Amino acid sequence: MTASGGADPVAARRTGARRWAIALIAVLIAAVVVVLLARLVRATPAGTAFVDRVPGAAPLPADAPVGFPAWLAWQHGLNALFLLFTVRSGWRLHRAERPTMFWARRKDGRIRTAHPPVRIALDLWSHYVGDTLWALNGIVFLVLLLVTGQWVRIVPTDWAVVPAAVSAGLQYASLDWPTTDGWTDYNGLQALSYFVVVFLAGPVAVLTGLRLAPGFAARLRFLDRVLPLRATKRIHWWTMLFLVAFTAVHVFLVLATGAVRNLNHLYALRDDASWAGAAVFAASLVVTAIAVLVLRPPLVRRAAAATGTVLERPARGRP
Ligand code: HEM
Ligand code: HEM
Repeated sequence: MTASGGADPVAARRTGARRWAIALIAVLIAAVVVVLLARLVRATPAGTAFVDRVPGAAPLPADAPVGFPAWLAWQHGLNALFLLFTVRSGWRLHRAERPTMFWARRKDGRIRTAHPPVRIALDLWSHYVGDTLWALNGIVFLVLLLVTGQWVRIVPTDWAVVPAAVSAGLQYASLDWPTTDGWTDYNGLQALSYFVVVFLAGPVAVLTGLRLAPGFAARLRFLDRVLPLRATKRIHWWTMLFLVAFTAVHVFLVLATGAVRNLNHLYALRDDASWAGAAVFAASLVVTAIAVLVLRPPLVRRAAAATGTVLERPARGRP
């Protein structure tokens, strides 16, 4: 059986590729239609007057922080790195055929529980490592955001954020980008999407992930009716797709709306036209590429063996 449930893996892969191609073409056509419609709306007197009256900046209290603290830049950078590994291992779990490598906590190890160790696929072990780092980084980010008052930039507290988001959306869609400067102001759409990512998608990914974890699932049987495992797995998967789509659009817009200046904000903590932020961002890409190259299956296996017992069974054998 394949991940898509068909008996012939080649046919299943072909159907998958065809579906992706159709989806891509549909997205391109939809994008062209949206741009044309937005341009039409902006060309009307009402559209022009609306964007003049509501330029798109999200409402902020007078004492809102300006710029970014160093901790925010570090957490933001680490978030991208850990998310990459979490998504990569999650993708492998989604595509996986029957696993052949497993990991189990050592019975005589330092951590002792009332229940015997649960055996999990090695890919799931890698996923746990990535998502634990990602979730811990996210928790530190949330705590610092709340205690430093930095949260006011991404938590909407005024309904004026809605027309601001509509105006910003109209400007993005008509390919005439909003002119807010992220150092002092996010536009309404940025503020709302950052809020959704940090306060909704992140927690949903963690909670559904914990619900799916075999060790917990076996002990959370009372949840089987309220939140069945199949539905949870679907939510977990769609949350991943949302985070990946957000990242793609976010990075595209960061680069398309004044890359040098935008990169300075979170990669060099300055709001000028120097190339410092672009250089640090390039260095972060090199570090990420090295991490991807180094963390190949043999090293992952060794790391897993150092923290527990790795078991292997032939691909067609019984567990
Ligand atoms: C690695 C590629 C990325 C780059 C180059 C990048 C760049 C940026 C920049 C420049 C800003 C500040 C916006 C501005 O000044 O207008 C920002 C903010 C933000 N980014 Fe990213 N980003 C990346 C990846 C991600 C990922 C993977 C996520 C989460 C899934 C994310 C979530 C956020 C959030 C939540 C903020 C707002 C932070 C705050 O003000 O509290 N970014 N990003
Ligand atoms: C604390 C955080 C997380 C935990 C504990 C966790 C746990 C799990 C578990 C146990 C599975 C296996 C589900 C199964 O096969 O029954 C899984 C699958 C998966 N995870 Fe996570 N996860 C977490 C965070 C994330 C994040 C942040 C992402 C991506 C943004 C992600 C993406 C995925 C994907 C794509 C799958 C495959 C789902 C499928 O087969 O359809 N996970 N996760």
